[in-house]
Amino acid sequence: MRTVIKNGRVVTAVDDYNADILIEDGTIAMIGKSIDADADRVIDAKGRLVIPGGIDPHTHMELPFGGTSASDTFETGTRAAAFGGTTTIIDFAVQYKGQTLQEAVDAWHAKADGKTSIDYGFHLICTDFPDERLGEMRRMIDQGVSSFKLFMAYPGVFLVDDGTIYKAMRTAGENGGLICMHAENGVVIDVIVKQAIAAGKTAPKYHALTRPTKAEAEGVHRAIALAEIANTAVYIVHLSCDDALQEVTRARDMGVPAFAETCPQYLFLDYSVYEQPGFEGAKYVMTPPIREKWNQEKLWRGLQFNDLQVVSTDHCPFCFKEQKELGKDDFSKIPNGGPGVENRMSLVYNGGVASGRISVNRFVEIVSTNPAKIFGLFPKKGTIAVGSDADIVIFDPNEEFTISAKSHHMNVDYSCYEGWKVKGATKTVLSRGELVIDEGKYVGRTGYGSFLKRGLAFSPR
Ligand code: URP
Ligand code: ZN
Ligand code: ZN
Repeated sequence: MRTVIKNGRVVTAVDDYNADILIEDGTIAMIGKSIDADADRVIDAKGRLVIPGGIDPHTHMELPFGGTSASDTFETGTRAAAFGGTTTIIDFAVQYKGQTLQEAVDAWHAKADGKTSIDYGFHLICTDFPDERLGEMRRMIDQGVSSFKLFMAYPGVFLVDDGTIYKAMRTAGENGGLICMHAENGVVIDVIVKQAIAAGKTAPKYHALTRPTKAEAEGVHRAIALAEIANTAVYIVHLSCDDALQEVTRARDMGVPAFAETCPQYLFLDYSVYEQPGFEGAKYVMTPPIREKWNQEKLWRGLQFNDLQVVSTDHCPFCFKEQKELGKDDFSKIPNGGPGVENRMSLVYNGGVASGRISVNRFVEIVSTNPAKIFGLFPKKGTIAVGSDADIVIFDPNEEFTISAKSHHMNVDYSCYEGWKVKGATKTVLSRGELVIDEGKYVGRTGYGSFLKRGLAFSPR
């Protein structure tokens, strides 16, 4: 099968030029000024950007949480991702107490294999990590699950203690793995939450008011300090605020290999979402919570100066009806998480490139190239180069559209960005050379996506 993409503006993390691309057998075979090869399919990309497919390294399809499960399955969630220009997700498998790491990864394979429209990999959330399990980490890395998430939050559910974090960091570091840290002081937060509930403060806004930015900053500081002691790198997930960013910036200025991602909800939404009438604020109950508005420009600055390297989504949708409603009388029972896998590329393009905050190259870097490099997928994924997978998005930088739950493809009954007009739309998506989205229409296939056996992390510093 040969496809030629003609007349496009090819943009990678470093390049920006007009060229044609020849795709053969799923990979990029040639890039040239004008390619006249015989092809089974010719795609005209005139007036459009031709960019590497988005890589969202933080999703939670079907995650069991708070007595329910995230509403997107691997089938619905990866289809929605493709609509939004994402061609790879890295989802978080969960090891529950008493399980081996292998059992946890096998359970996630059972959920995902044969169900996705795009390629996917797994990180592994470790919750039960006595010394005798440490050796299993190497086996997971050999199987392509080369990153692990640990929680400093959610005591009794996901939280692991500092000794465990240190041991896991050392083992990961020695074996070429990477620890992803949910950095919040969950023990202190738990006390504050219990005090709020006891005082009758049960509305959704108290989710935010009981999780101070200092609790996140303390977690980030501790995570980085532990990584330094363990002589390894660390990746901070879903960083939400300036207090936490300052910890990352300080460490990086000292030459510490600390990496961090933020998410669209922290770049575009602010605390006022919780002040909406009734139970509306529950839609935005996610962890960390949405912060005061002034943090947003600080996060953009972090992206501009490379103290933040990635924008992921932390896609973890729960329907407003019946799922978020589980916490109608108690904010601590609202399942934590929100939707976003479909909106990331357009939101970041609109708020980043179209608004003049970042270059188009930096856009590609933070939504595709850096996740590929940090999580062992580069250069197979994350760039447009001869030999790379033909995961390609044809993106109209001028088209405006309105985000709405009425038209999105995520299996969730609301959008955090309802009615927002954004500039920059995914038009056509190829995954390993096969069309998944054609001029806005899904033409892909459930089960097409392959599990990605990821390599070791390659630092983009
Ligand atoms: O609220 C969130 N972020 N839910 C998903 C789990 C996590 O901590 O990433
Ligand atoms: Zn988390
Ligand atoms: Zn998450």
